[in-house]
Amino acid sequence: MTNAPAKISIGDKTVEAPVRSGTIGPDVVDIRKLYGQTGAFTFDPGFMSTAACESGLTYIDGDEGILLHRGYPIGQLAEQSSFLEVCYLLLNGELPSKGELDTFTRTITRHTMVHEQLSTFYRGFRRDAHPMAIMCGVVGALSAFYHDSTDIADPEQRRIASHRLIAKMPTIAAMAYKYSVGQPFVYPDNKLSYTGNFLKMTFGVPAEEYVVHPAIEAAMDRIFILHADHEQNASTSTVRLAGSSGANPFACIAAGIACLWGPAHGGANEAALNMLREIGTPDRIPHYIARAKDKNDPFRLMGFGHRVYKNYDPRATVMQQTLREVFDALKLKDPVFDVALQLEEMALNDPYFIEKKLFPNVDFYSGVILSAIGFPTEMFTVLFALARTVGWVAQWNEMISDPEQKIGRPRQLYTGPVQRDYVAIDKR
Ligand code: CMC
Repeated sequence: MTNAPAKISIGDKTVEAPVRSGTIGPDVVDIRKLYGQTGAFTFDPGFMSTAACESGLTYIDGDEGILLHRGYPIGQLAEQSSFLEVCYLLLNGELPSKGELDTFTRTITRHTMVHEQLSTFYRGFRRDAHPMAIMCGVVGALSAFYHDSTDIADPEQRRIASHRLIAKMPTIAAMAYKYSVGQPFVYPDNKLSYTGNFLKMTFGVPAEEYVVHPAIEAAMDRIFILHADHEQNASTSTVRLAGSSGANPFACIAAGIACLWGPAHGGANEAALNMLREIGTPDRIPHYIARAKDKNDPFRLMGFGHRVYKNYDPRATVMQQTLREVFDALKLKDPVFDVALQLEEMALNDPYFIEKKLFPNVDFYSGVILSAIGFPTEMFTVLFALARTVGWVAQWNEMISDPEQKIGRPRQLYTGPVQRDYVAIDKR
């Protein structure tokens, strides 16, 4: 069934705009010809009502708290799949057969080493540099090392660049950590799983054998799955926008990392844990809830609220479960966990949070788990970047392959001065 077009009237002009339907989700009004027909732009600075592209990767129903990758619910993937299988799914559209997964795993595993000269890059950074600053620089620099995978018009080069990025990101992230603590870099060990390898490169030292803890490996892999993609979020949109000019894939992913760093996006898990530690004990929670509700106080409950989810973030559900599993496996007790649970309960019963539909998001619990595993807070966003790389790469590939792809070029509502004449400096 074709949709009736939308009628848009501006002044004395009325134009018809096609209304298109996806497989699920809201329809869109295709306003691409609006400016040509009426001379008016639409105005939507935060993309509150604007679909910027067509995509078949990830679907979110924020009201129902649903997240699907290529149609598969995130809860099922987190429970039954592995991160590399989810990578294959996002890149190729279907779950792999056993043979396809083995080949994919072998390919990724064979790309885990980085060019030896890349390690000299790290020495240019101060030891106390934030690892996300290092990630922006080093990932951007990959384009200077892998010239044979920067021609974006060649699908084979795009495929190799995608595999390189997914494979090398754990190595680059672990090296950023090692550099900050003054320990030697640990080379990848291809006997280990993707996630086990990352843990060894991060926490292993040459002086001792490192044994991967199965419960931590499983939890970490699940955390990677939970962060793999999230449709057109800020960093993914950044990657698409950077890529729309024809920039090389490594530069585009570096742009995504830069965007992810912000506290309203990937930096929120670091901010959430810092907040929980600052609260410290359950008796102080009401004070912080009151601050979050106070219009004159810039404080927000970090790890709460989401542009799209107006219900419980399905990733937060899995994260809370994973947190319990890690704490049980490591026999841990941390007052921060109790503070988190009680803060969640109190906020979910508070009229302010109910009315504004503010629920815990993926970042609320992830900081507590990552800290329990042994990561310092500065590494949290790095882990997010590592996992999100597959989403960025898959979305970038989808965009480049789209025959309707154009350079992203938003317009504006100009509010500056109208034309005026230059005034010589002695006359001002
Ligand atoms: N604590 C207290 N009040 C909040 C919060 C919060 N965490 N989040 C939103 N609000 C209020 C906000 O003050 C506003 O109130 P009012 O209508 O009276 O002005 C209302 O709720 C709507 O907020 P908004 O900022 O207009 O909503 P947004 O869609 O632009 O922002 C958000 C979404 C995630 C940036 C915001 O909820 C936030 O700052 N949360 C804390 C940071 C955070 O946890 N970020 C992680 C996001 S999930 C991971 C990711 O995808 O990167």
